[in-house]
Amino acid sequence: MKIKKAIIPVAGKGTRFLPATKTIPKEMIPLINVPMIFYVVEEAVKAGIEEIVFITSKGKEAIEHFFQKNTELEEFLADKGKQDLLGSYNSISDKIVIKTVEQTEQLGLGHAVLQAESFIEPGESFAVLLGDDLVLSDSPVTAQLAKISSENNGCSVIGVMEVPNKDTKKYGIVKGEFLKDKKTLVMDSMVEKPSPEVAPTNLATPGRYILNSQIFNCLKEIPRGAGGEYQLTDAINLLCQKEKVFAHIFEGDRFDTGNPRAYLAATLEFALRNKDFKDDMIEIIKETSQRHGIQL
Ligand code: G1P
Repeated sequence: MKIKKAIIPVAGKGTRFLPATKTIPKEMIPLINVPMIFYVVEEAVKAGIEEIVFITSKGKEAIEHFFQKNTELEEFLADKGKQDLLGSYNSISDKIVIKTVEQTEQLGLGHAVLQAESFIEPGESFAVLLGDDLVLSDSPVTAQLAKISSENNGCSVIGVMEVPNKDTKKYGIVKGEFLKDKKTLVMDSMVEKPSPEVAPTNLATPGRYILNSQIFNCLKEIPRGAGGEYQLTDAINLLCQKEKVFAHIFEGDRFDTGNPRAYLAATLEFALRNKDFKDDMIEIIKETSQRHGIQL
C-alpha cells in the first residue's frame, strides 16, 4: 500500500534558537534564503506523500502560511516581471494538502504524534519526519523506508544512522538482528537517549519513521518517559514487543540543524552545495579569515 500521509511535528518552542524564536518559528529560520522546514516538506513530497499534518502550537502560524499561495505577492512579482523569484518554493503547495492540528500541551514527541490519530485510517501506514535533521539523498530517506514497509505488509520502519558512541545520549537508539543485506534490522527494542555506557548499539534515528496505525494504541499505553515526556521511542519499543518492526540504515547525507553550531555548519554546507552561492562563500571565507589574521 502506498504511503500517502506524513506527520511533521513543529510544536516545539525552539529554545536553543532564542531570541529569534520569540517571534519566528524555529522551522522558519532559513538556511541562506530557504526556511529549514521547506527541505523536510520537499523530502516528503519527493517520496510521494500527498497529505501533510503539521502538529503545531500557538505562534507557529507562519509555517502553514509559507505553504499557502500568496496571490498578492504573486501579482506584485508578475507586475515587476519577477515571477521567477518564488520559483519552485511556491509550486510545492500545488502538490500537497496541508492540515494542521494544535498540540495545546507540550508533553513530548509521543504526545505530539498522538494528536494526528484522527487523520490516519485504521491499518494505514504513514511517515513521521522531524525537522532538526535534514537529509539530502537521491532517493529521499522517507522513500527508502516506505519501500521496506510496503514490501512487508505496511510494517513500521525506523530510519537509522551510525553515530559516534559519545552521541547516543542525543537520540533514540535501536537494537535488533541484521538481515542479510546488513542494512536492515528486525528490531528487539528501542531506547531514548541512553548514555554511551548503557547504549545497546550506536544506531540512532535522526527522526525519520514509517509507522503503522498500531502505534497509536502503544502511544496510549506508555507512561511518561525520559524528561517526564511521552516518548515516541517508548511507543516504538512497545510496538516491537507486539509485532515485527524494522530499522534501516538509510543512504544519504544528514545535517543536524538543531543547535546554533550545527546550524552554522549546515549553512556553510548548503552554500557550498549550491552553485549560486558556492564561489561567493569561498571568497567570503578567504577574505574574512585574512581580515582577522586567521590562517586556514
Ligand atoms: C527526538 C526523538 C529522538 C530522535 C531525535 C532526532 O529527540 O525523541 O528519539 O533521535 O528527535 O532528532 P529531540 O532531539 O527532539 O529531543
